[in-house]
Amino acid sequence: MTESSLTQRIAPAGIPASGQQPIDIVAAALADFAACDTATALEDAKAKYLGKTGAITALLKGLGEMTPEHKKLHGAEINEKKTAIEAALKARRESLANEALNAKLASESIDVTLPGRGRGVGGIHPVIQTWQRCEDIFGSIGFDVADGPEIEADWFNFTALNNPPNHPARSMQDTFYVDMNGTDGLPLLLRTHTSPMQVRYARMHAADLSNKGKPIKVIAPGRTYRVDSDATHSPMFHQIEGLWIDEHISFADLKGVYTDFLRRFFETDALTVRFRPSYFPFTEPSAEIDMKFDSGPLKGKWLEISGSGQVHPSVVKNFGLDPERFIGFAFGSGLERLTMLKHGIGDLRLFFEGDHRFLKQFA
Ligand code: DAH
Repeated sequence: MTESSLTQRIAPAGIPASGQQPIDIVAAALADFAACDTATALEDAKAKYLGKTGAITALLKGLGEMTPEHKKLHGAEINEKKTAIEAALKARRESLANEALNAKLASESIDVTLPGRGRGVGGIHPVIQTWQRCEDIFGSIGFDVADGPEIEADWFNFTALNNPPNHPARSMQDTFYVDMNGTDGLPLLLRTHTSPMQVRYARMHAADLSNKGKPIKVIAPGRTYRVDSDATHSPMFHQIEGLWIDEHISFADLKGVYTDFLRRFFETDALTVRFRPSYFPFTEPSAEIDMKFDSGPLKGKWLEISGSGQVHPSVVKNFGLDPERFIGFAFGSGLERLTMLKHGIGDLRLFFEGDHRFLKQFA
């Protein structure tokens, strides 16, 4: 029996039954197996050769009809083909299993060299830490804490603070105008300082002071805005306002309160404070508060730390209080400035860049 007659007799599906050319079953099986890209397809292909009705099985069955000599001759040949097909099947099974494993590994890949993600623990921003520290220190000496709007009426931000429209002192604080016809034809703006909170808070508590003798003693920390942007100015920054109004509050009280605050804030008694004459429309007299460390890296250098002054009688009037009877001081300090001095930070912009390498140092 020739190769072609064998093949023609037992040709299974997929193998041309009437091929004039001899068909190599092993080569056909190899090609079939190679074309299978899943284990199921491979098992189906296997059936074509090694299954009950498969090509090899049929060849083996055919041996029964042969003479002993033919049986011997073709038996060995068929067995060779069977072994070759089984080996090819095994190899393809393994390679499919490997491919499947690799695909799985690739899709579920775990890069063990990546650092663990962990749970990020946030920290409080250094400026907000200063904010909280100020609340603690002033709170401990009886100051209330007040909060107010960042979009402010022109009247509270300027006019009530003795800084009416067209007053030249307005040019000290340009800002972002939200609505040019906000209230009473006067603009709504992003507040340039926390000082409008003096007016808001004092007007709410004026009756308690006038009638019950309860002093107005408050700090108002918060965000403020100006049209400024460089290494020492940011369009958004933070201030803390202080106000103490009663019948006999003097510059001496301001000096005592503010010096005590600085010593506690910087955690050192080795600092000196001086008051340098200045100008603000809402205080008379007005002063810049300067400080000097007596030790440490900034030793001996005078640093400007806050605006301050005795509240102007017109402003006291706008509080709804009698300026003949009530008097007191106010101050306004920059929270970024305090933070920069506390930690020796040279560039204000670092506070707003959100760079973890910087922020982590304060967490
Ligand atoms: N509001 C002023 C500013 O932003 C700072 C200031 C100065 C506040 C004197 C005060 C004060 O309360 O009395 O420049």
